[in-house]
Amino acid sequence: MTFAPLGRRRVPVTARRAVGAYVVVAVADDGPAPEAGQFYMLAAVERWGGGTDERPFLPRAFSVARRHDDGTLDFVLEDVGPGTERLCELGEGDEVWLLGPLGRGFERPRQARRPILVGGGVGIAPLMIWQDVLGASALVLLGFRDAAHAEGAALLRGGRVATDDGSVGHRGLVTELLAFELGCDARAEVYACGPPPMLEAVRALCAEHDVPAQLALESGMACGFGACFGCVVPTKDGYVRLCVDGPVLDAATLDRVEAA
Ligand SMILES: Cc1cc2nc3c(=O)[nH]c(=O)nc-3n(C[C@H](O)[C@H](O)[C@H](O)COP(=O)(O)OP(=O)(O)OC[C@H]3O[C@@H](n4cnc5c(N)ncnc54)[C@H](O)[C@@H]3O)c2cc1C
Ligand code: FES
Repeated sequence: MTFAPLGRRRVPVTARRAVGAYVVVAVADDGPAPEAGQFYMLAAVERWGGGTDERPFLPRAFSVARRHDDGTLDFVLEDVGPGTERLCELGEGDEVWLLGPLGRGFERPRQARRPILVGGGVGIAPLMIWQDVLGASALVLLGFRDAAHAEGAALLRGGRVATDDGSVGHRGLVTELLAFELGCDARAEVYACGPPPMLEAVRALCAEHDVPAQLALESGMACGFGACFGCVVPTKDGYVRLCVDGPVLDAATLDRVEAA
């Protein structure tokens, strides 16, 4: 596990590009190289607040999507509310507060197991850097709601795509693609990130096929480093703080994936 330096860093945005329904924001960072599956807490330096008095928002959690050789970090954002809307507006020359890398990331596949990466929506983000690490050995299965979101598949190499509306690739759920793969060969280890119902379906499928799975979960995070207990999720061994014990959890430790 890579530990974050103490304190948040003020770093410049070096690029912004729209990829279908998503925005990729790149920042120049001189912190330690993150591990795949770790995350950062991000806040815009300017106009980070709501209402006439600009009351500051808490920072928001984002998976690191890619790290370039010069230390540049890419984040893939989906605009779902005020914080992500503000971060999606950022462009070259703007600045962000960045804290990280935080949490526990993915672990390498057990011996003789083929990695299968399963992403849903913006859950593709941590799978990008994990594919960079694993290389061509990883099979990539991606699910999106429609064609605009499915453009995000271009951020990974060679992914098979499913869309809810059938506009791109397989019509249906990405878990149907996974069920087919596990039916052909169960010597796999699955790495998944996406909405809770998708992760619960992945967990149940992997349990049925006796396949190990590592799930990158989400929950509301206020601090990101274990202080507020706002991010707890239930496991078979009791509640854990997702920001320090996760966000990647072994599926075998969960009875089920609860809605965030
Ligand atoms: C470890 C981790 C990694 C993440 N990685 C990414 C990423 O790579 N890209 C990305 O776009 N988003 C990511 N998220 C989610 C992101 O943090 C939230 O979308 C963001 O905090 C929403 O803030 P907002 O102010 O825009 O919207 P809000 O108004 O705070 O929320 C908008 C909607 O999203 C829901 N929501 C808010 N936060 C979360 C959350 N953490 N989990 C589930 N639902 C939530 C709210 O209930 C509400 O329905 C990640 C979250 C975690 C915990
Ligand atoms: S986000 Fe504060 S304890 Fe996890």
